[in-house]
Order: sequence, then C-alpha cells, then structure tokens
Amino acid sequence: MAGNDYGWYPGHMTKSIRAIRGELGLVDLCIEVIDARIPLSSRNPDIDELAKDKYRLIILNKSDLADEKKSRAWAEYFKSKGIETLELCAKERKASDLVKKASLYVCREKIERDKKRGILNRPVRAMVCGIPNVGKSTLINTIIGKSKTQTGNKPGVTRSNQWVKTNAGIDLLDTPGLLWPRFEDKTVGFKLAAIGSVNDQVINTMQLAGEVITLMNDLYPDRVKEKYEIDDLSKPEEVFKAAAFKNGILLKGGDPDMQRAADLILTDLRSGKLGRITLEEPSL
Ligand code: G4P
Repeated sequence: MAGNDYGWYPGHMTKSIRAIRGELGLVDLCIEVIDARIPLSSRNPDIDELAKDKYRLIILNKSDLADEKKSRAWAEYFKSKGIETLELCAKERKASDLVKKASLYVCREKIERDKKRGILNRPVRAMVCGIPNVGKSTLINTIIGKSKTQTGNKPGVTRSNQWVKTNAGIDLLDTPGLLWPRFEDKTVGFKLAAIGSVNDQVINTMQLAGEVITLMNDLYPDRVKEKYEIDDLSKPEEVFKAAAFKNGILLKGGDPDMQRAADLILTDLRSGKLGRITLEEPSL
C-alpha cells in the first residue's frame, strides 16, 4: 500500500509536524490515542521524540472491540516503558472522568511543584494526538461534552485551536494533533485496512479479507470456524464460500457472491461480530 493511500504527502507531514510542535510547546500533557486492536500499528513513529519533554498518557481506545487480556498486556507493556496507559471506550460517558483522573495522576509532580510555589489552580494543559480514526474527536467530544468537533481531519489542514476548560483543573485543546501512521511498513498498512482505518475504496477488499482469514487462522481460528460453519481455514476462498452460503449471499444463478462475502467478513471483524480481537501482542 502506498503512503498516498492514507492521504498523507510529504508537504502535509512537514506542515503537520510544525503545527504539532508549536502546539505541544504550549501543553503539559500529551494524550496519545491509539487503537487497542492494533496498539503498535496505530502509533505514530515520531511521537516519542515529539513528546519527549511532556507528561504522557496513552489511551488504548476502542477497548470495547479489543481482546481484554491483550489490552491488559499492552497496558503493562507501555507502563514498563514509563508511560501511564488507560484502556478506554471513548464513546462512553465515563471516559471523561477516567481520562481527567489519569491526567491529574500523570501530572501530579507538576501540580505538587506549583502548589509548593504558591501557584494554586493552574490547570494542566493537555492535547490529544494520534493518527486518523483512532477516536481523537470522539474522546474530545466526550470530555468537553460537545457534539461532533469540526476537526481538520485532513493532513495539513490549518485549524484554529481553542482551549476548553474542564471542571477537573484541566484545559484541553479542542482540536486534536493529527499524526501519520508508520506507512513504510506493509503490515501496518494491512492491519489499518483490516480494522477499517483506511478507505476501502482504495484497496482490494477481496485480497484484504483473504489476508484477514489467514491472520485469524493464526490468532482466533475458532471464532471464524464457528461464525461461518467451516472447519478448515487454510483456503480463504472456501471461507468466503461458506460465509456466502451461510448468509444467503448468492449471485443470480445461485453461485456464492465472493466479493460481497469478503466484504461481510471484513464488516464482521470490524464490528465485533467475530468477537473482541487484538491483532498484535507486545514483545516483552
Ligand atoms: P479521529 O478523530 O481520531 O479521526 O476518530 P473519530 O473520533 O472520528 O472516530 C473514528 C470512528 O471510531 C468513529 O466511527 C467513532 O464513532 C469510532 N470510535 C471512537 N471511539 C470508539 C470506541 O471507543 N469504541 C468504538 N467501538 N468506536 C469508537 P465512525 O463509524 O467513523 O463514525 P460514527 O458513525 O460513530 O459517527
């Protein structure tokens, strides 16, 4: 998959990194949102460098769709690297309090320092960052109680940021820092596409579904076997056929509609109908 398929161009990346650096200069805390189903592939390759002088919080978002055991392992992994991590579903109301609490905890040293200097009630300033589709706007909206934020969700789009006060002593930038994925790595492109973070119109969904079956055969074979009533997952086209027959997805003559079956499998995976899945594990 070419880098351009993500909508990122070198000019966009330069502009975006300049904007993020400028904004990060004003913040205490960088809240990095990643997708709990692919915690590695949904990270920006430069975030550690970009946010090296900031307090850090990683949000393992969409935890409602991810494998709980693996989310726990990822949280431990990031903590072992010194970054506080929160498993979250940004759509839920309670996400707001969880993030505020974790933010204050992460910044406790600064808050204490301010207190000792007699500076009271200086809010922690936070910025939400991450690659497209991980749930940044959803999280901001949940925290500030707003309906859909008008994000400049296109690389390089200029935005005018505003600080929004919360009731927890945290000021939040109302527009997220948009970063790019590690697109030089092919498996990253595949996994982003698998979870639906890349526009399906620019990819061959039949091929993608085939690769998904192969990966699921390694990670969660029983889920696929049970769902489409098939014992052998070694040939993806046989799985497409089984899914087509099981769901009555047939062409006029009665043959299975392989394209629609492949699309159904992707939809099932992305919507949690194949259970809660995580496609990557931390290497400890
Ligand atoms: P972004 O700003 O990082 O680009 O992501 P955004 O908030 O736009 O979220 C991308 C998609 O992910 C949205 O779905 C959103 O509803 C969904 N989402 C965000 N957080 C969670 C979560 O914790 N769990 C689940 N299951 N989904 C989440 P969409 O279909 O693109 O939009 P919509 O139909 O929900 O409006």
